Amino acid sequence: MLEKDIQEVLFSEEALAKRVDEIAQEINRDYEGKEVMLISVLRGSFVFMADLCRRIDLPCTVDFMSVSSYGGGTSSTGQVQITKDLSSDIAGKDIIVIEDILDSGNTLSYLLKLLEQRKPNSIRLCTLLDKPDRRVKPVTVTYSGFTIPDAFVVGYGLDYDQKYRNLPYIGILKPEVYGG
Ligand code: IMP
Ligand code: MG
Repeated sequence: MLEKDIQEVLFSEEALAKRVDEIAQEINRDYEGKEVMLISVLRGSFVFMADLCRRIDLPCTVDFMSVSSYGGGTSSTGQVQITKDLSSDIAGKDIIVIEDILDSGNTLSYLLKLLEQRKPNSIRLCTLLDKPDRRVKPVTVTYSGFTIPDAFVVGYGLDYDQKYRNLPYIGILKPEVYGG
C-alpha cells in the first residue's frame, strides 16, 4: 500500500542489514576496551539505532534527544530547537551521535556544538545516509552508511510528513507525493 508512493528502492532490507553490520564492526574495533554511549537523534534514527546497537559488542548505553529544524516540507533551516533533551550526563563519556541522514548539516552542526559544551571525552557522528551535495554547514562524519544523491528518501525510520517510517527499505519518494 505504501509502495505505490515509492519511485525507486535505493536500499533493500538485506542491503541495510549488511551495511549496518559493517558499521557496527568498525565501531567494535575502534572502541575496543571502552564503553560507548549512543545518542539517537529522534525520530528518524530510531530504526537504525535499534539495529545498530544490537550489533555492537561493547559495554554500551543509549540515550535519545529530539530536535526540530524549522522549515517543514523537505528541507531544514538554520534554526534548531531542542524539543527533548538527553536524560543522562555525557561529561567524560565516549559519545556516538546516531543520525538517519545528513543533509544540509544545519541540525547536526548545531547539535554537535551543543553536546561538545557538555565536555564528553570524545564525540563522533554516525549517519546512515549522507547527501553531500546539499551541505551548507560543514560536519565531520566518522561513520557513514551510504552516500546518496539529492533526492527525498523515506523508510527505515525516515519520514515524509511523519509517514513512511515503517517501510523496511529506503526508497525515493515520488515527487508528486510532496508536490515537488
Ligand atoms: P539537515 O539539518 O538539513 O542536515 O537535515 C537533517 C534532517 O532533515 C534529518 O535528520 C531528517 O530528519 C531530515 N531529512 C533530510 N533529508 C531527508 C530525506 O531525504 N528524507 C527524510 N528526511 C530528511
Ligand atoms: Mg532526523
